[in-house]
Amino acid sequence: MAQTRELLTQERRLASLLCRPRPAASDPVDPETFRGVLGRFATGVVAITALDREGRPHGLAANSFTSVSLDPPLVAFCVAYSSTSWPRLRAAKVITLNILAEHQRAVCAQMATRGGDKFAGLTWRESPGGNPVLDGALAWIDCRIDAEHPAGDHVIVVARVLQLDTHADGGPLVFYNRSYGGFDPIS
Ligand SMILES: Cc1cc2nc3c(=O)[nH]c(=O)nc-3n(C[C@H](O)[C@H](O)[C@H](O)COP(=O)(O)O)c2cc1C
Repeated sequence: MAQTRELLTQERRLASLLCRPRPAASDPVDPETFRGVLGRFATGVVAITALDREGRPHGLAANSFTSVSLDPPLVAFCVAYSSTSWPRLRAAKVITLNILAEHQRAVCAQMATRGGDKFAGLTWRESPGGNPVLDGALAWIDCRIDAEHPAGDHVIVVARVLQLDTHADGGPLVFYNRSYGGFDPIS
């Protein structure tokens, strides 16, 4: 009898551990808190570029860029479904990621501004894939879209690296807490 009671107590203890209340999936996450917390993760910024069939350049600034795999060589970034530039970039056979330098804050702002000519006043040369490599960018990566995974209000784009190289020298443009800065190595 005592043994059965002990077993029942243990069972209840286990059940209470397993059934700890978890936040319901529908619990709201405050957008400002979300942005504030995620803003504490510092990133670099890339300008994603491509030419359309008429040879017009298109671009988009993105800080969601990351390296994914070495073999095969894959990178990834996330694009909002609301982007008007992404459908044009996506239509190109090759897209090019320009890693922006510290002094390219204005370039970043230009690439992030909807509408108009995002390349006005910018100088660039063509990558092997035929897309804009912005003067002053630290490096460029020619890639083709490998997979697209819907993720909430964004799509996660996985891209296969075709060719890549370093370009200009300098420090990176760092995006942190909704502001820009440079990279200061800890000695
Ligand atoms: C620093 C910075 C990082 C950004 N990162 C992203 C990103 O990762 N994904 C994205 O979809 N938009 C990002 N944006 C917004 C786009 O650059 C752009 O403003 C947006 O797509 C609207 O322009 P569009 O309609 O020409 O696409 C970022 C903007 C800035 C300034």
